[in-house]
Amino acid sequence: MTQETLPQASLAVAILAAGKGTRMNSDLPKAMHILAGKPLFRHVLDTALALQPARIVAVIGPDMDMLARQAHPHDVVVQKEPLGTGHAASTAMNALAGFSGDILILYGDTPLITSESLARLLSRRRENDAAIAVMGMRPNDPARYGRLITDSKGNLLKITEYADASDNERAISFCNSGIMAADARLLPDLLSTLSPRNNKGEYYLTDCVELARKAGHACIAVEGDVSELSGINTRSELATAESLLQNRLRQAAMTAGVTMPSPETVFLCADTRFGRDIVIGPHVVFGPSAIVGDNVEILSFSHIEGTTIEKGARIGPFARLRPGSMVGENAHVGNFVELKNTTLAPGAKANHLTYLGDCTVGSKTNIGAGTITCNYDGYLKHKTIIGAGAFIGSDVALVAPVTVGDGAIIGAGSVITHDIPADAIAIARSRQEILAGRAPGFRAVKAEEKQRKLAKSRAEG
Ligand code: UD1
Ligand code: CA
Repeated sequence: MTQETLPQASLAVAILAAGKGTRMNSDLPKAMHILAGKPLFRHVLDTALALQPARIVAVIGPDMDMLARQAHPHDVVVQKEPLGTGHAASTAMNALAGFSGDILILYGDTPLITSESLARLLSRRRENDAAIAVMGMRPNDPARYGRLITDSKGNLLKITEYADASDNERAISFCNSGIMAADARLLPDLLSTLSPRNNKGEYYLTDCVELARKAGHACIAVEGDVSELSGINTRSELATAESLLQNRLRQAAMTAGVTMPSPETVFLCADTRFGRDIVIGPHVVFGPSAIVGDNVEILSFSHIEGTTIEKGARIGPFARLRPGSMVGENAHVGNFVELKNTTLAPGAKANHLTYLGDCTVGSKTNIGAGTITCNYDGYLKHKTIIGAGAFIGSDVALVAPVTVGDGAIIGAGSVITHDIPADAIAIARSRQEILAGRAPGFRAVKAEEKQRKLAKSRAEG
C-alpha cells in the first residue's frame, strides 16, 4: 500500500446530491442517472469508499428514497430545500459534529473523479496546511463553471461563480470542479457564516475560500484533468461523461489483457470484469454484472449482461446473454441465440437461432438450431432441465416444466411436453406420409388452374 491508499481514519466524505437537477428535465434525481451501467451517485460513493474514510454522509433532497437506498448503510441527511451547495454542505456538518481531520466534499454530479486524484488533493492540503484545497481544471470551454482566482504564487484567493463574475473573471480559464478537501476544525464555522447575497440568492460553498482567507488561513488549488472533473448538468453532458468513462474502461480492459480491434465500438459497464487473453469483436455491448473468463472470444454485435462466461467459451456473433446466465468452460453460444437465467455446462453448444430461458443444459449437450424453451405459460415461468450429452434436434419446442435426461435424443420439429428418460429417443410430431407417384398429377392440376386464371383476367381486359 502506498501512502495515498492507506485507510484514512481521519477522513470524512460528504457527497452532495440534493440538487433538483432541473436541467436534466427528468423525474429521476440527477444523481440516479446512469453512467456505464451505474448511477452517478454510486460512482462517487465507490470512489469515496476506495479511500477507506471513517465516515461518509450523503446529502439528498426530500423524496429521493432511491438515493437513500444507494447510500445505505452510510449516513444520509436530507436537505429540505435546495438553497445551494454551501447550505447542502452545512447540512452534512450536522452529521459530522465533533469530527476532526479532513472533510472531503464531492458532488453527485461529478462522477469521473478517481481515488488517486482525491488522495493527491488530500495530501496537498495537509502538506500546505491549507484550510481548503480545491480541485481545479482547465476545460476547453469553461462555460458556466465557477472561476478560480489565484495570486502570482498560486494561492487560491477566491472562487467567483459564473453568474456573479465580471468579464475579466469570466476570461479566466482555471475553473472550479466543485471538489474540495477542507480542515474539519474550520469548515463548520466557515459554512455557518455564508450568506446568500449573490445573483442566485444561494448559499455558495465556494464562498468559503474567501472567508477562510479573510480569517487568515491559506487556500490552494490543485489542478486535475478535465476527463475526471467534468460536471453533469444536462443530458448532453451526461453523454460526454459516458464517452470519457467508456474510453477509460476500454483502456483498462486492454491493459488487463483484452484484445479489441475496434475498442471505440465496444461499450462496457463500470463493473464488467475480464480475465486475460480475451478477444472482443466490434460492436459488443456489456450491461451490468458481466464476468468474462480467460481465453473467451466474443464476436460482433453481442449483448451481454448479468452473465458469467467461463474460460474458453465462444459467444456470438449476435448473441444475447441476459441476467442470471452462466456459460461454462468451452461452451458455445452462436448467432441469434438468447439465454435468460440459463446455465450451459462446460462444452455445451447452442449455436443457432435459439431461446433458452430458465433452463439448465448439461455438459457437451448440443442444442439444435431453432430450439425454443416455452418457459412462460402466460402466468408463471417454468424450468427446463436438460442433462449431459443430450442431443436436441432442430426446431424443438420444450414446453416447461420439462426434464430431458442425460444422453437423450430429441427428433427435429418435436414439441416436448413430457419428461424424457436418460438415453431415450423422443419424437413428438406427426408422422410423414409418402404418396408415391402423385407429384406429376398435382402439377398438371395446378398448371391448368393457372391457365384458367390468366385467360379470365385477359377476357376482363
Ligand atoms: C458548482 C459550483 C461551481 C463549479 C461547478 C462544478 C457552487 C456554488 N458552484 O456549480 O463553482 O464550477 O459546481 O461542477 O458550488 N447540491 C445540493 N444542494 C443544493 C445545491 C446543489 O446538494 O442546494 C448538489 C447538487 O446535487 C450537485 C452539486 O451540489 O451534485 C452541485 O450543484 P449544482 O447546482 O450542479 O452546481 P453548479 O451550478 O454546477
Ligand atoms: Ca453541477
